[in-house]
Amino acid sequence: MGQKILVLEDLAAVQKEVRALRRAGKSIGFVPTMGYLHEGHISLIHLARRHTDHVFASIFVNPAQFNNPKDLESYPRDIPRDLAMLESANTYALFMPTPEWMYGPNFETWVNLDKLPLPHEGAHRPGHFRGVSTVVTMLFNVVQPDVAVFGEKDFQQLRIIERMVDDLKFPIQIVRGPLVRESDGLAMSSRNVRLSAEARSRALGISRGLSAALDAYKGGQRTAKELCAIVRHHLSQPGITIEYVELAEEKTLQPVERAGHEPTRMLVAAVVGGVRLIDNMALPPGLR
Ligand code: PAJ
Repeated sequence: MGQKILVLEDLAAVQKEVRALRRAGKSIGFVPTMGYLHEGHISLIHLARRHTDHVFASIFVNPAQFNNPKDLESYPRDIPRDLAMLESANTYALFMPTPEWMYGPNFETWVNLDKLPLPHEGAHRPGHFRGVSTVVTMLFNVVQPDVAVFGEKDFQQLRIIERMVDDLKFPIQIVRGPLVRESDGLAMSSRNVRLSAEARSRALGISRGLSAALDAYKGGQRTAKELCAIVRHHLSQPGITIEYVELAEEKTLQPVERAGHEPTRMLVAAVVGGVRLIDNMALPPGLR
């Protein structure tokens, strides 16, 4: 176990630490989260450490990005466990603001992107990405990191943050963290604890379908229609509702008909035993 983690709850406390580090010539990395941490989150902390001297994390279950009040209410929380995990990963400080401070009674300023939030997740979760881009802006303004790390697990979110940082000239480098899976392939997610044993084993259809599509792609299959059909086939079981299975260009997130020209991703969302899960797989050009 490293040094004890600092827990900071308001702007003044964060600024004091950040200024002291800056005066000492140290760089700052940042990993924003909603808590109930797992190895996927911790991999981002380690990645941030490789790029900077000190890593700040945040835990804030952001009400503005939940389009479903039940999902917000039942979002899992365990701060003592999160603190222990962050501390053993040598996280320097944890910023944990209150919703009342983040969204005061007269709050009315939002950050919106025109196009990237529209397809995939955005089409199924109205207002979700407006909540994400706004809260990430607020967190960036408070922490003012040199580098911030976001996971490829939420690929559309990652693209939105990259676009926003470019467009709004945030002096922050965004680093992509690879998607971390359980040993059986299930993408790690804080929401996985809500899966019953039976739903959890059915949920494996998602990662298996994506691996099968990648294998077919490596074998020369290029059409979105066929590649998506492979994923859908693995998901056509009772107890699974598919929200979308799409092949999209990584840059614009627009659907493509064929893989292989530019970087593309298979993107999936499905509800398994009442739990909404997302996953994705890169189908990079030039792979055979
Ligand atoms: P949360 O779901 O807690 O995720 C925090 C960060 O961890 C995100 O960058 C996410 O992509 C990454 N992550 C989650 N599961 C992962 C996995 N299996 N492998 C790799 N990275 C993973 O994403 C959010 O919170 C929020 O939207 C937030 C950005 C904090 C804004 O509220």
